Amino acid sequence: MKALERKIKEEREVIEQGQITVPSGLKEYTIRILDENDLEQIVQLQNSVLGKLKQKELCVPIPKEEMLEILTGNGESVGFFVGDKLCAVCSLLFPVSYENNMARELNFSDEELRLVVQFELSLVDLDFRGCNLQLKLADILARRLEKRGEAKYLFTTVSPYNYPSIKTVTSLGLQIVKISKMYFNWDRYVVYKEFNKPVKLDTANSISILNTCLAEQEKLINEGYRGYSQFKDEEGIKIVFAKVCEN
Ligand SMILES: CC(C)(COP(=O)(O)OP(=O)(O)OC[C@H]1O[C@@H](n2cnc3c(N)ncnc32)[C@H](O)[C@@H]1OP(=O)(O)O)[C@@H](O)C(=O)NCCC(=O)NCCS
Repeated sequence: MKALERKIKEEREVIEQGQITVPSGLKEYTIRILDENDLEQIVQLQNSVLGKLKQKELCVPIPKEEMLEILTGNGESVGFFVGDKLCAVCSLLFPVSYENNMARELNFSDEELRLVVQFELSLVDLDFRGCNLQLKLADILARRLEKRGEAKYLFTTVSPYNYPSIKTVTSLGLQIVKISKMYFNWDRYVVYKEFNKPVKLDTANSISILNTCLAEQEKLINEGYRGYSQFKDEEGIKIVFAKVCEN
């Protein structure tokens, strides 16, 4: 191995190592922080995952230039590796430019927009699905972010039809606060949480609505409800809403 390659490997921050059982068997894995040397593998993973995605509107591809920016200081990315192969990735973008800032959907002031961090990229190789790896990686990034104490808000947008992603964001305490048309006129939930001021919901009086009934969900949101959980039953995917408690 060349000296430079060895140096890069030594300096990369390992977050976790362990074993995981996937359909092809038991695998040893490493989760570590990604840097610009991982760019090509991320691009390949995105091409492979999105190339096989039947419902294209579930995920918006991230341009290579933006990935590089995140890897070189404009955010943080973690990767799940088996051997040297990148099998899953998740990224946070910060600081977030005015143009890309999802908090503009909620008419945040310019000052508040500067305190926003966003999930931007989340991919799991088909061979490694079924282990909630998206949640595992997103949780690592959210915890590190909270520990650093620099951000006030964590935002992202999620398709109402992307069950694993809805499950990931609600598990991390992000709440659905708006339904918008974005990107190519696709439906998106705007979800966020404020780290130091979690919003309390009246979950004893929750209402569950099919993910496809967006008008009904919008009506609830306008009445002061937020989406905070999800489940599947014989009718399909249901999103669970509850009203924000007054204080
Ligand atoms: C979204 C994604 C990262 C999740 O991968 P993952 O962490 O391996 O997700 P899992 O396969 O472990 O599934 C997580 C949960 O969603 C459920 N799920 C997965 N696919 C589902 C589907 N198509 N319909 C309904 N439920 C589904 C699983 O049953 C599981 O729920 P459970 O734990 O209650 O059983 C992966 O599907 C992916 O890369 N998708 C394409 C890119 C994408 O959409 N990225 C996110 C938005 S940009």
